[in-house]
Formats: sequence, structure tokens, C-alpha cells
Amino acid sequence: MAEFSYRKEILQFAAEQYGTEPAYLWAKYPRYAALRHNDKKWYALIMDVPKKKLRLPGTGIVDIINLKVEPLLAGSLRMEKGFFPAYHMNRENWTSVLLDGTVDLAQIKDLLGLSYDLTKAKSKRKGKHKMAKKIVVLSTSFRKEGNSAQLARQFAKGAQDAGHEVKEIYLSDYHMENCRGCFACQKTGKCVVQDNVGGILEEMRSADVLAFATPVYFYGMCGAMKTFLDRTYPLFPDKYEFRDIYLLAAAGEDLETTIQGAVEGLDGWIRCFEKTRLAKVIFAGGVMESGEINGHPALQEAYQAGKQV
Ligand SMILES: Cc1cc2nc3c(=O)[nH]c(=O)nc-3n(C[C@H](O)[C@H](O)[C@H](O)COP(=O)(O)O)c2cc1C
Repeated sequence: MAEFSYRKEILQFAAEQYGTEPAYLWAKYPRYAALRHNDKKWYALIMDVPKKKLRLPGTGIVDIINLKVEPLLAGSLRMEKGFFPAYHMNRENWTSVLLDGTVDLAQIKDLLGLSYDLTKAKSKRKGKHKMAKKIVVLSTSFRKEGNSAQLARQFAKGAQDAGHEVKEIYLSDYHMENCRGCFACQKTGKCVVQDNVGGILEEMRSADVLAFATPVYFYGMCGAMKTFLDRTYPLFPDKYEFRDIYLLAAAGEDLETTIQGAVEGLDGWIRCFEKTRLAKVIFAGGVMESGEINGHPALQEAYQAGKQV
């Protein structure tokens, strides 16, 4: 039996979020639990593994979960403690994550969601709609369970329910440096900075719609969002498909003026990316602590906006 493990919490989350019952497929490994889509395609596998097989110090058994992760994100995760190339599965596309508390439960849940989306059958992901759009929803707060992230999730859910292809990105999962202002990208189309932002830009480039979720920090967008916007310079002036831009913002105060700075900041970017327009701003005011947004009408507004993109 593994020592401390988030196994129970993950199984409960999979049941609540996706209606998944774990499949125990091997008599020899009674605690290997496969999490599968309705078409039986796996999106995660929980295993109990001797520590020595994972080259971990100590003896005994530890629970891990194998998740499908895009190569770029996998590269950056595997530099952190608790992540490594998948045990017993394709190591390029799958990553093992320790369930012993080394990695935050919230982060594991987010990655499980990404794995679920990545492994969905294509026809389901795009729906049958001819007019399905590609939508990138970028959460820029480092509180992944925070208020603006909840707005982002509702927006994404609405868009998914409408049959669109949705890519949810949490900026805090990526290593991001500042724009160096070298203008190299304006000559070569490529950024000289060696971090993980390029992968996000590739996702964005072909999107039809972008939604940025941010907390209001000192009456503006948060620094991470601004840094990210600076790093979109390789797409400037016209190397992109997106048109409609949504801003989803959360703040402690609830005044009309509270998000003015964030809107103006984004508007500056929109004015430069001339083919785009600010489609809608959704604001959840009066929420300070993480999760305080529960029950806020802006969540429903975000869902509807996602549904109507
Ligand atoms: C550095 C910092 C600056 C903040 N500045 C403001 C502000 O100017 N106005 C405001 O109403 N709330 C401000 N807040 C509160 C956040 O906007 C609020 O906690 C919000 O719900 C955070 O969203 P999140 O959970 O998505 O991170 C600030 C919070 C931090 C950490």
C-alpha cells in the first residue's frame, strides 16, 4: 500500500467532473486504475509503484498518475520535482506525476483536465458543427483555483458546450521571461528568448477567439498578463488568425472604475493588433480571497459569453 496519496481525491474528482468510474484491468496489479473516456480511450492511469523503480530514494511504494501532456509543457514540468517521463507508457506524450504530496493537488487536477481534453476523440472535440471555432482561454493569475481562473473555466465550458475546440492555458504552468526589446522577431518571426512562451503563441496564432483572464492588480491587469502580451510581438503585425478578444477580470473592489486600467491596457494591445476587436469584458468585482467568486453572477455571464462566441 502506498504511503500518503491523492488517489482518493483524484478518483473523486474524475467521478464528479467526468462521470468516470475507474477500470481495474489487471489481476496482477489490483491497484492500477485506468481513467477512460466513454469510448474506452484512456486519459489517465493511476499506479502503485516501488520507489526504486522510479529511482526515488527510500523503500516502499508510491502512487503515481500518468497523464498526457503536450511536449512543450512536459519539458518544463519535468524540470520540477515530482514529474518524470511516464512509467510504463509512451514517454514522449505521457508524464508521470507523484501523488505523494510533492505536487499540489490543484495542479494535478488541472493537468488531468488537460489530459482529458488531449485524449478526447477528435470528432468529439470539434463537434459536428461546421462553424466550430478554435478558442484559446489564457488564465494569467498564479492562483489556479482563484477567481479569474474560475471565470476562465466557465467561459471555456460554455464554448465547449457550444461545440467549439477550446484550449485552456494556465500561464503559471509555463516558464516565461520578459520581452528583451531586441526586435529580432520582427525580422525572423521568432523570439530569441529560450522559454516556453513560443508554444502558447503557436496555439494562439491559429485561434479564432482569445479570452484573457486576469486579476486586477493595482488597477491594471496583472504583471504576468502584461509580460505575456509583450511577448506576443512575434505575431505582430499580422501573423495571426484571431479576431474577437474577451477580457475576464476579477477584483477585490466592485466599482466601475476598478477594471478601467486593465481594459485600457488590453485595448492598447488590441489597437496594435489591428484585425482584432474587444468583444466583451466580464467583470467579477467584490471578490478578494481565492474561491470567493462562487455564486457570483459573472460566472454565468462568462459561461454564456463562451457559449455565444
Ligand atoms: C498585488 C495585488 C494587487 C491588487 N490590486 C487590486 C486593486 O488595485 N484593486 C482591487 O480591487 N483589487 C486588487 N487586488 C485584489 C485582487 O484583484 C483579488 O484578490 C482578485 O480576486 C484576485 O483574482 P485571482 O483569484 O484570479 O488571482 C490586488 C491583489 C494583489 C495580490
